[in-house]
Amino acid sequence: MDANKRPESMQRITTKELADAFIAEQVGLVRKQVGDGKVLLALSGGVDSSVVAALLIKAIGKQLVCVHVNHGLMRKGESEQVIEVFGKELDANLIYVDATDRFLGLLEGVSEPEKKRKIIGAEFINVFDEESRKLEGISFLAQGTIYPDILESDGVKAHHNVGGLPEDMKMELVEPVKLLYKDEVRVVGEALGLPHAMVYRQPFPGPGLGVRCLGAITRDRLHALREADAILREEFDKNGLAGKVWQYFIAVPDFKSVGVKDGKRYEGWSAIIRAVNTTDAMSATIEEIPYPLLHHITDRITHEVEGINRVLMDITPKPIGTIEFE
Ligand code: XMP
Repeated sequence: MDANKRPESMQRITTKELADAFIAEQVGLVRKQVGDGKVLLALSGGVDSSVVAALLIKAIGKQLVCVHVNHGLMRKGESEQVIEVFGKELDANLIYVDATDRFLGLLEGVSEPEKKRKIIGAEFINVFDEESRKLEGISFLAQGTIYPDILESDGVKAHHNVGGLPEDMKMELVEPVKLLYKDEVRVVGEALGLPHAMVYRQPFPGPGLGVRCLGAITRDRLHALREADAILREEFDKNGLAGKVWQYFIAVPDFKSVGVKDGKRYEGWSAIIRAVNTTDAMSATIEEIPYPLLHHITDRITHEVEGINRVLMDITPKPIGTIEFE
């Protein structure tokens, strides 16, 4: 039997009961595979790696070592949530690496999108590799591979995502959710007690805010982007759009324009809102956000975020635009 093929008979996991049964089965399988060995996991805080972490903590507790690399390009509060949920609530063996300075140092002055992505991806591997070499006796590597990753089988996870791992890491893989679709991973995550917001998190690219801070990243503009994005997310949450819109975020371009703040000339960046709906991310339509809400968001961002003096809306569908504004 091909271990990477979902059996026809496998029921779609849609309820807590089915999720609990899946969890119980996987706990047994993981214990059998790992024995008293140690397992390493790169925990980004995304849905898949978070669910794998929670599942493995249940199965093998402190035999799991989670490494969370903060590349400095996370959204507001994300690394903090990883520490809170996994480090504190689930009492995981969590290594937190704040590598912000390394990443932002390498990215200084680099404006080309593909080059930025390559730098972020490569440095992620370097940091993870360094951390794992400090550990002893690790013989397994856990990954949040899910079934669509196998179906798009050129190993999307490996190179599309930040988190592609060094090839010379000779470790046996532990991939407990590799036969599950995304919706099933979420049901399992909730059954494991992970916070709803973590399990239903919208897609977020591996290189993070690095792709949305257009051109060469600077710390002040990255900070403005992070704050503006947090306001957009908060307002979408409060106004019932969070569960309705597939992906929404702010991008901040690297040019300034003239405005007026507190009666004085104020040169600032623009915050660009993008909010799209899609089923497969191959094409996307534009969500129509009510104007009163747009006015409110604009008001908050321009008043609360240092450095921003305009709010624009990107209404380009995919194609021709990509979902990310990169
Ligand atoms: P585009 O911009 O190509 O994005 O229309 C399609 C979807 O993919 C997400 N995306 C990524 N996801 N790692 C990921 O896991 C990445 O490097 C990456 N780049 C883009 C994007 O957010 C959108 O949902």
